[in-house]
Amino acid sequence: MNLYIETFGCQMNDRDSEIMVQLLEQAGYLLCQDIANADAIIVNTCSIRGKAEQKAYSLLGSLRRIKENHPTLIIAATGCVAQQEGKKMLSRMGHIDLVIGPQGIYDLPRLFADIRQSQSATSSASQVITPQDSQFHIPPFLPDLKHGNGHKRFVTIMQGCNNFCTYCIVPFARGREVSRSKEDIVAEASHLIDLGVKEITLLGQNVNSYGNDQDPEQRTTFAELLRAVAALPGLVRLRFTTSNPKDLSPALMDCFKDLPNLCHHFHLPLQSGSDTILSRMNRKYDRAGYLNLVKGLRQACPDLAITTDIIVGFPDESDDNFQDTMDLMEEVRYNAAFSFIYSNRPPARSCDFPDTISLEVKKQRLAIFQQRQKEISLERNQEYIGQIMELMVEGESKSGHGQWSGRAQYNQIVNFNSTTTYTPGDLVQVKITEGLQNSLRGELVES
Ligand code: SAH
Ligand code: SF4
Ligand code: F3S
Repeated sequence: MNLYIETFGCQMNDRDSEIMVQLLEQAGYLLCQDIANADAIIVNTCSIRGKAEQKAYSLLGSLRRIKENHPTLIIAATGCVAQQEGKKMLSRMGHIDLVIGPQGIYDLPRLFADIRQSQSATSSASQVITPQDSQFHIPPFLPDLKHGNGHKRFVTIMQGCNNFCTYCIVPFARGREVSRSKEDIVAEASHLIDLGVKEITLLGQNVNSYGNDQDPEQRTTFAELLRAVAALPGLVRLRFTTSNPKDLSPALMDCFKDLPNLCHHFHLPLQSGSDTILSRMNRKYDRAGYLNLVKGLRQACPDLAITTDIIVGFPDESDDNFQDTMDLMEEVRYNAAFSFIYSNRPPARSCDFPDTISLEVKKQRLAIFQQRQKEISLERNQEYIGQIMELMVEGESKSGHGQWSGRAQYNQIVNFNSTTTYTPGDLVQVKITEGLQNSLRGELVES
């Protein structure tokens, strides 16, 4: 039985896809790269913006034809659109067999087996499994490394989000925050290291509030968890994502002072530089507070690379509000930023906010922001010229010819030439010779 999987969205979905593939391989499925050869197809969906949801629906819709020619094909929709839409998805698309939310994925092998059985009977048995149980715990799960990178991996430390930023669908799609136990996380991380993994990224929608849902007597804070994972022998690099600034603790800043394997990169989503908009977004920090965090982080770690997420065109964002975002961006000088035009995501609260700003203006703002960010990213990357940097090798570039790519701890890709053959995860020293908009170039330095 061949399994094909398509994943949209964030790293949480990437990690969930890895889990689904591993579980189904244990049940006898083989991962395939060509959808035409599949006996089962999983579409792991994202609903963060309207476009992401449309992409998922359009792929699912296109499967109707394939199913007509291959009636025993199993089609499963998983992820955030599946969780949110539930039964509605089946009424829109009758050719789907399974609609499964993030909490249901551990049951996939049994659900697939049930479908196979029902196919030999006459009635079809589509199922919708979308519970949002606040008592749900991600089961202990030891990953294999059969697919994807052998040198760097994600470890999910918590599910869901409690913050209800007014524009955001995640709390509806992923439910409330549920932290995994420190023991399970450390066990998964050390298992990965035993398998040869060199870099681990801890994942959650707001890792800073890790442990807040645990018994106060026994709770582990995110900073404590980070220290426990960093201490695992053999872990070369540690990263985490993502952080709502409102919960960034001084204890977390201190980790950058004394954890040698913690990479000097912090993704700190700003969303908007305007206090009016931040308050309407329910972000629970203001620009002064955000700038203070940046200052504290840079004091703790002077060479910290800071990246961010920005939304332009939030309902009724004025020119002045947008200018506040531009001003703040100039003040922080982010290494890189992801920026998006605001998208209505019912039932998120901001869908009911009055909005008199035209799409045209929103597009212009996005273009202005992105243009300026490109210039700043270039300037930032040029500041590294002359520095000696340690890279973790990612692989040989597609063109071959001794061109290699590595990643700096600051998260940029750095290209260099070498006649040596490396394994992904090897460390090399380079001197930076060129800074480009999205990458750096370096020359090998004899270590
Ligand atoms: N948990 C993270 C955000 C994860 S979602 C945080 O709190 O910062 C990733 C990014 O998608 C967000 O940072 C935001 O910039 C963007 N985003 C979320 N909802 C959006 C919406 N309705 N319209 C446009 N962008 C959105
Ligand atoms: Fe969405 Fe806000 Fe939660 Fe981030 S913190 S996932 S933006 S609700
Ligand atoms: Fe998308 Fe769900 Fe992640 S909405 S961004 S896949 S948590």
